[in-house]
Amino acid sequence: MKVWEVVKKPGFDALVLAQKPEPKPKAGEVLVKMHAAALNYRDLLVVKDASNDSDMPESIIPLSDGAGEVVAIGSNVKDVEVGDRITSCFMPEWIEGPLTAKKQMSALGYLNDGVLAEYSVFPEKGVIRCPGHLSYEEAAALPCAALTAWNALTRRKLLPGSTVLIQGTGGVSLFALQFAKLFGARVIGLSGSAEKIIRLKELGACLTINYRTTVDWARPIMEFTGGIGVDHIIEVGGSATLSNSLSCIRYGGTISIIGQVTGATVQIDLGSILAKDVTLQGIYVGSRKMFEEMNNAITLHKLKPVVDRSFPFEQARAAMEYLESAKHFGKVCITI
Ligand SMILES: NC(=O)c1ccc[n+]([C@@H]2O[C@H](COP(=O)([O-])OP(=O)(O)OC[C@H]3O[C@@H](n4cnc5c(N)ncnc54)[C@H](OP(=O)(O)O)[C@@H]3O)[C@@H](O)[C@H]2O)c1
Repeated sequence: MKVWEVVKKPGFDALVLAQKPEPKPKAGEVLVKMHAAALNYRDLLVVKDASNDSDMPESIIPLSDGAGEVVAIGSNVKDVEVGDRITSCFMPEWIEGPLTAKKQMSALGYLNDGVLAEYSVFPEKGVIRCPGHLSYEEAAALPCAALTAWNALTRRKLLPGSTVLIQGTGGVSLFALQFAKLFGARVIGLSGSAEKIIRLKELGACLTINYRTTVDWARPIMEFTGGIGVDHIIEVGGSATLSNSLSCIRYGGTISIIGQVTGATVQIDLGSILAKDVTLQGIYVGSRKMFEEMNNAITLHKLKPVVDRSFPFEQARAAMEYLESAKHFGKVCITI
C-alpha cells in the first residue's frame, strides 16, 4: 500500500511517499481503508521539526485525523463491524476521565504512526462512527480541531446569551464558532484577511475585526460588549494575542489556552488574571467520551464542518504548503 512518511530531512523534504505492506488487525484491532485525512497546524510542526526532533522515530506515518471504512476486524472486537464508517481518535487511549501522560503518549501522527496511508490499523476503542450526514473529508475534520473546540466550550458552563471570541479562521476557531452558536452564544471573530472576514459574517459572527489593521482589538470588543468583555476566548494565537485577550475577557470569564500560532512565549500581567477572577484552562483535544457527545450534537443539528478544500493523496506536500500559507478558511483535507 502507499503511505506518506516523515523522515529526518529538513523542511517539507521530510515528507516522502513510500510503499509498505498492508497491515493486519490483531486481537481487539480493526483494519480501515482510509478515505480522507485532515491537516492540523500540529502536522506542519511535526514535518518541519522532524530533522531536529530527537524524540521522533526515524520514520513515522503523519497526521492524526482520518476517516474511512472498516474492512476487517481482529478477534475479540465487539462494537465495530466491517462496513462501519469511522474516524480515528486523536489519542486512542484517552477513553474518558482526566488526561494523563500515558493517554497523551498515544496521540497519532507524532511518536506513533498516523493515518496518511491507504490502510490503517486502530484499536477498537480508537475509532468512532462518523455522523451519517458527513462526507469522509468532513468526518476527518473532527478528531482534533472539532473536539478541541468542543472540549473548550463544554468544560465550563456557557450560558445562552454569552459572548465567545474566536481568533482567526482556522480549523479550531471555526468549529468553536459553530458550537458557540449551537449553544446560543454570540460570536466575535478576528481575522487578518478582509475576504475571510466576509465569510466569518456569513457564518454568523456578530462582530468581526481585522487583527492586522486593528492591533489593539480588545478596545472595540470592550466597546461592543458595553464595557463588560467576553465570556469565553478561544486562544489560539499565543504570544501576539494573550495580552489583548486578558484586556477584553470579562470578570469571571474563561480563556481556553489552545494554540500558539504566533509563538509560545508570553509575558502575562498576573494582576489582570487574579483581579478579574479569570480562569485560564489548558485544553488538549479531548477524550473518546467527549467525541461521542460531540458527534451526538453534530448529528442532531446536522452541523457541517467547514472544509476549505481537499487535495489528492499524491499531493500531500502541496496540502501542507497550502496550510502553511494560511490561505485556508476552515479545514484542509486530503482525499485518499
Ligand atoms: N491544544 C489543542 O488540543 C490543540 C488542538 C488543535 C490545534 N491546536 C493549536 O491551535 C492553533 C490553531 O490550530 P488550527 O489547526 O486551527 O490552525 P490553522 O487551521 O492553521 O489556523 C490558524 C489560524 O490562525 C490565525 N491567526 C494567525 N495569526 C493570528 C493572530 N495574530 N491573531 C489571531 N489569529 C491569528 C489565522 O487566521 P486568519 O487566516 O483568519 O488570519 C490562521 O488561519 C495551533 O497553534 C495549533 O497547534 C491546539
